[in-house]
Amino acid sequence: MGRTVVAGNWKMNHGPRDAEAFARALRLPHNPELEVILFPPALSLSALEQALAERDFSVSLRLGVQNIHWEESGAFTGEQSAPMVAQTGATHVLVGHSERRQIFGETDDDTRRKLAVAAAVGLIPVLCVGETLEEREGGRLEEVLRRQVEGALDSASTREALSENGGFLLAYEPVWAIGTGETATPDDASHAHGLLRKMLQDRLGSDSVDPRRVPILYGGSVKPGNAAELLEGADVDGVLVGGASLEPDSFQRIAEAAG
Ligand code: 13P
Repeated sequence: MGRTVVAGNWKMNHGPRDAEAFARALRLPHNPELEVILFPPALSLSALEQALAERDFSVSLRLGVQNIHWEESGAFTGEQSAPMVAQTGATHVLVGHSERRQIFGETDDDTRRKLAVAAAVGLIPVLCVGETLEEREGGRLEEVLRRQVEGALDSASTREALSENGGFLLAYEPVWAIGTGETATPDDASHAHGLLRKMLQDRLGSDSVDPRRVPILYGGSVKPGNAAELLEGADVDGVLVGGASLEPDSFQRIAEAAG
């Protein structure tokens, strides 16, 4: 796969004014093979979009949101739906991030429904999967990833909608490596990505998206100093960066590491 994806998940950081300042300061390399995706808080999306529109980047630059509800509309105070997001400048959405699963109690079934509604409105989901330390140490890495991948892609109509609407991405984010400064070794990442590629092949079969064309990103304490090494790994098609995506300078250096 030629393209390398460098994505930034700002989590609950950067309001609209901070997002504008980020856009003004951001420098990105000239690399036709690079795709950059930023996931600001939904509240800052429009300000970021407008500020980026005043800049002239030579890479593909997309925006996404960090979460959606599984219903299309209704009495769900405080939530945002996929059809609403589709009316904004966002093209992508994170689904199943471990912070959603661990802190907000989201289940595999919630993730499955969110993936379905995203696909139905033409948003490109980034399905996040990953094991906890306990699961890893208990030898359950493969079992956990398989449960998360197969559960999310269980429905044939979702797989069909994904293939019609531009596909999806997978993000391998070991929970023990998120925000801890502890990074998977390049070998750990490649090993997990290889398992995920195989699971995609088993799950997607011939009826939908070509499993070889689903980018698999690594996330978990990616920094300017370790990005290049991680990106060299087999089946590592990009990175999903949390903390180090908040500063334009460190995000730029990670984007430069992509080639
Ligand atoms: P950190 O890069 O801060 O570890 O966060 C990773 C992550 O959760 C990206 O979605």
